[in-house]
Amino acid sequence: MYRTHNCGELRLENAGKEVTLSGWVQKKRDFGGMTFIDLRDRYGITQLVFNMDDNANLCENARKLGREFVITAKGKVRERSNKNPNMPTGNVEIEITSMNVLNKSETPPFTIEEETDGGEDLRMAYRYLDLRRDSLQKNIIFRSNLAIEARKYLAELDFIEVETPCLIKSTPEGARDFVVPSRMNKGQFYALPQSPQTFKQLLMVAGFDKYFQIVKCFRDEDLRADRQPEFTQIDCEMSFVTQEQILNTFEGLTKHLFKTVLNIEFQDFPRMFYDDAMRLYGNDKPDLRFGMEFVEMNDVAKDKGFVVFDKTELVVGVCAPGAASFTRKELDKLVKWVQRPQIGAKGLVYVKCNEDGSFKSTVDKFFDQDMLKAWAEKFDAKPGDLLLVMAGETDKARKQLSELRLHMGDLLGLRKKEDFKPLWVIDFPLLEWDEESNRFHAMHHPFTSPKKEEIGRMLNGDHETMKSLKADAYDLVINGNEIGGGSIRIHDRELQSKNFDLLGFTKEEAQAQFGFLMGAFEYGAPPHGGIAFGFDRLCSVMAGEEGRIRDFIAFPKNNQGRDIMIDAPSPIDPDQLVELSLDLNIRG
Ligand code: AMO
Repeated sequence: MYRTHNCGELRLENAGKEVTLSGWVQKKRDFGGMTFIDLRDRYGITQLVFNMDDNANLCENARKLGREFVITAKGKVRERSNKNPNMPTGNVEIEITSMNVLNKSETPPFTIEEETDGGEDLRMAYRYLDLRRDSLQKNIIFRSNLAIEARKYLAELDFIEVETPCLIKSTPEGARDFVVPSRMNKGQFYALPQSPQTFKQLLMVAGFDKYFQIVKCFRDEDLRADRQPEFTQIDCEMSFVTQEQILNTFEGLTKHLFKTVLNIEFQDFPRMFYDDAMRLYGNDKPDLRFGMEFVEMNDVAKDKGFVVFDKTELVVGVCAPGAASFTRKELDKLVKWVQRPQIGAKGLVYVKCNEDGSFKSTVDKFFDQDMLKAWAEKFDAKPGDLLLVMAGETDKARKQLSELRLHMGDLLGLRKKEDFKPLWVIDFPLLEWDEESNRFHAMHHPFTSPKKEEIGRMLNGDHETMKSLKADAYDLVINGNEIGGGSIRIHDRELQSKNFDLLGFTKEEAQAQFGFLMGAFEYGAPPHGGIAFGFDRLCSVMAGEEGRIRDFIAFPKNNQGRDIMIDAPSPIDPDQLVELSLDLNIRG
């Protein structure tokens, strides 16, 4: 038998017991007469003691153990004289009477401890060693718990889990497809799913009523800390539902996950219209852990002789509580921060609301104390606050101020890890006009339904009308992260066809790409809708490590989309290329 207990479970009440433990050698301390080994497994660390006086041979063998050797050891639990209150097993140690080396280990290329000396690339190359570290083990187990709880909740509500195929045809989620050449169908390609969107809709046509899947999705897009080329969704679809029922069901799922995994309970989630999110936070995924809502100030800022404001579309600002104490140097730094190319602002106006009721601003020349007082009143600013004001074309100014708001939130310590603020953003626009390509894009995806009351306008309206159409589309946002998105779908062939027209698909293109779905809609498609949560993101946000999804994926890709450990992607054998009819293309 390899073990009677694991390395995390023995306590003082087990003293005197004969036990066998197996695991990895984390650390060895040699004191001549005595050798101590910290033995580690997934469950914890237990101290083993080898005593020269009791068994010299055994002690010699223990001395020869290297880091990460795999051993099994037998002995008696005893109370430790030198207790370690920081370890759950810190009151005991095992007096070893026999030991077997199950496997040796090379010296690992970095220390397998929380404070490791290994750089990112090295640890990615030896991911299986990095995964031995406590924090990564915890993350992967946390993820597993969330997946299990999600399944429990959905199964309880009669959702069924259905697997959809990976070798499919392009799904329009807005990214590039990863493609797979077909050997049997020369010159033809499968696409990997960007999501199971079309299949889950077909499952509704098939009458399954409530579907879910914890599913891999593939998107060939530029990578960021919260994006991976392959990632996982909790993907769901329901028939005969309204938006209200979907929001309630998945608010319920979110509450269930927080309650069961983190023991955190929520009131009902607030809801915000997309237009309000943009107006008040300049962002469709506002971080509600702190206030600092935007205040639009054209009425008090324009036509006072300051050209920058006068000739601009929008003057808008935020009030940073208590930040009037920022030094000149800190404020200059803020100005430089918004002028970086990533933010791209021309400048930043600030007003200090002094404790004595006076104001000091960078635009004192144009705005006297009374005018600045009017500003402060608009912001409901208190003495000690700092007003930060930006100006520009509406969308741009909002976007830049949104970045600054988040940055101030960080500087002022207002974005606390342990604080969770979920939010539904609803009524997204149906279409988005793209100046560059001179065409509409679906804001969510082309199967999203306009709001019922918008259908008439959609079928009959002009170009400008199309820009203002609202959809039954919604996002779940937590702490400024887009966790999930979904919509009520179009289930009427005519309306779907109109949507494809608006999106610039010719009839032939629409038929070639989505004919199967449109065809299915001819056979009694029920009204339906759904949502998908980004599971990796959900894990990272719930664990308080927002934006670091890589740490919650067992084998992630790096920022170049590479798996360094297995060296993928990599060239393939020329014969394989020939077999796939790809040889000519490669050689040009
Ligand atoms: P959407 O495209 O909004 O919707 O995706 C749903 C959620 O998936 C997560 N996500 C990602 N996570 C990690 N890496 C990525 N590259 C990545 N891309 C997206 C986000 C996002 O909110 N079929 C629709 C859902 C529906 O309408 O039911 C869809 O895929 O958290």
